[in-house]
Amino acid sequence: MYRTNTCGELRLANLGQTVTLAGWVQRSRDLGGMTFVDLRDRYGITQLAFNMETDAALCEQARRLGREYVIQATGKVIERSSKNSKIPTGDIELEVAELTVLNEAKTPPFTIEDQSDGGDDLRMRYRYLDLRRNPVRQNLELRHRMAMLVRNYLSDRDFLEIETPMLIKSTPEGARDFVVPSRMNPGEFYALPQSPQQYKQLLMVSGMDRYFQIVRCFRDEDLRADRQPEFTQIDCEMSFVDQEDVLQMFEGLIRHLLHELKGLEFGPFQRITWHDAMRRFGSDKPDLRFGMEFQEVTDVVKGHGFSLFDNSELVVGIVAEGCAEYTRKQLDALTDFVKRPQVGAGGMVYIKCNADGTLKSSVDKFYDAEALKQIADKMGAKAGDLMLILCGPAMKTRTQLCALRLEVGQQLGLRDPQKFAPLWVVDFPLLEWDEETQRFYAMHHPFTAPKPEDEALLADPGRWGDIRANAYDMVLNGNEVGGGSIRIHDRTLQNQMFHTLGFTDESAAEQFGFLMDAFTYGAPPHAGLAFGFDRLCSVFSGADSIRDFIAFPKNNSGRDVMSGSPSPIAQEQLDELQIAIKKS
Ligand code: AMO
Repeated sequence: MYRTNTCGELRLANLGQTVTLAGWVQRSRDLGGMTFVDLRDRYGITQLAFNMETDAALCEQARRLGREYVIQATGKVIERSSKNSKIPTGDIELEVAELTVLNEAKTPPFTIEDQSDGGDDLRMRYRYLDLRRNPVRQNLELRHRMAMLVRNYLSDRDFLEIETPMLIKSTPEGARDFVVPSRMNPGEFYALPQSPQQYKQLLMVSGMDRYFQIVRCFRDEDLRADRQPEFTQIDCEMSFVDQEDVLQMFEGLIRHLLHELKGLEFGPFQRITWHDAMRRFGSDKPDLRFGMEFQEVTDVVKGHGFSLFDNSELVVGIVAEGCAEYTRKQLDALTDFVKRPQVGAGGMVYIKCNADGTLKSSVDKFYDAEALKQIADKMGAKAGDLMLILCGPAMKTRTQLCALRLEVGQQLGLRDPQKFAPLWVVDFPLLEWDEETQRFYAMHHPFTAPKPEDEALLADPGRWGDIRANAYDMVLNGNEVGGGSIRIHDRTLQNQMFHTLGFTDESAAEQFGFLMDAFTYGAPPHAGLAFGFDRLCSVFSGADSIRDFIAFPKNNSGRDVMSGSPSPIAQEQLDELQIAIKKS
């Protein structure tokens, strides 16, 4: 037997027991007469004590142990003379009688501590060592707990977990596919699924009624902190449901997770239409942990000779409560922030509501006290507040102000990672115009149903941009953690949708024929959604990056720097696949 106990287990109640532990050497301290070794495994740390007086040879052996050696130690559990209240095993230590080195270890390239000295790149190269660190391991523990809770919640409600293929047909809608060449079918390719969307709809046609899968998805898109080329979804679909049924079911799931993992209780989640979310927060994923709603002042600012405002489609601002004391330097920094290319505003106007009731602005030349007061009243600003205002084309300005709102919220400590603000954003537009290709794309995917009251607009291309979808996103703390829709189950409507998206009958049949055929054999009304599982984990932990919740993630260039993938393959492999690499 390698061990009788784990390194996180022993307490005063175990005093006097002879036990065997196995693990990694975290650190050792040679105090002359005594040598102490901290032994670590996944469960914790236990101190091993070696006494020069009672067994000099053993003590010598202990002194030679290097960091991260894998060892086994047998001895008696004794009470520590100087206790360590910081660790659960801190009252005891092991008086070692027998020590075996199970494996030596090279000195790790960074310290295996909660605060490591290793940079990001180095830790990713040696990810298996990084995973030995508490914070990273705890992230994976959270992920595991969440997966178990999700499975049990859905299984208890009659959802079946069903696997769908990983090698599927490539479709050009959505993000780019990762493709896989087929050796047995030269010149032909599979794609890795961007999501199991079509398969889960087929499972509804099959009568499975309620499906879920915690499933890997692949998207060849530009990467960011909240995006990985391979990520995991909690993918779900239900038959004979309307939007209300779906929202209730999955809001229940998130409420359950918030209760079990965070000890928080929530009532019904707020719902806000896409249109309102854009107007009030400039985003389809508003962070509702704080207010600072947009205040439109276009009508009150015009006609004062300030041409920038006079010529703008929209003049809109936010009120930063209690920030009238902001210094010139702080205001300049905010102006620089909105002027950064990532935000793209031309500038920022501020108005301070001083504590004494006077108003001071960056546009005093155009607005007298009376005019400033009018703006302040319209924006609901009180003495001590600061108004920050942007102007320009409506949509663009809202997006820019959204970035400013989040920045100010961050600076004011209003984006508390331990606070949770879930909501549904509903009634997304069905279609999105793309300037570059001069065509409409499905905002969600081509199987999303329009709202029944907007269906007639499909006949009028001039109104396509106004059609609302029966689509919904779940947003948590400014992150889109999930999204889904009511599906089109009617073949005629689906064909109409394909035509709207620029497909001919032939091209639609070529790509989606199997789904369309299936729909002729009795497709039930159905709907569903998918949560981004990695994202859900990171938001629950208040972390910025989903990478920390994936055991072996890719870097921002889509590389696994540990294994060195992607990498060239041998000429023989290419030949077998009949693939020729174009030399540039
Ligand atoms: P959607 O494309 O909105 O919907 O994806 C669902 C959720 O998956 C997460 N997500 C990602 N997470 C990490 N890295 C990525 N690259 C990434 N892309 C998406 C997001 C998102 O909300 N089939 C539909 C769902 C449905 O209609 O049922 C779908 O895939 O959290």
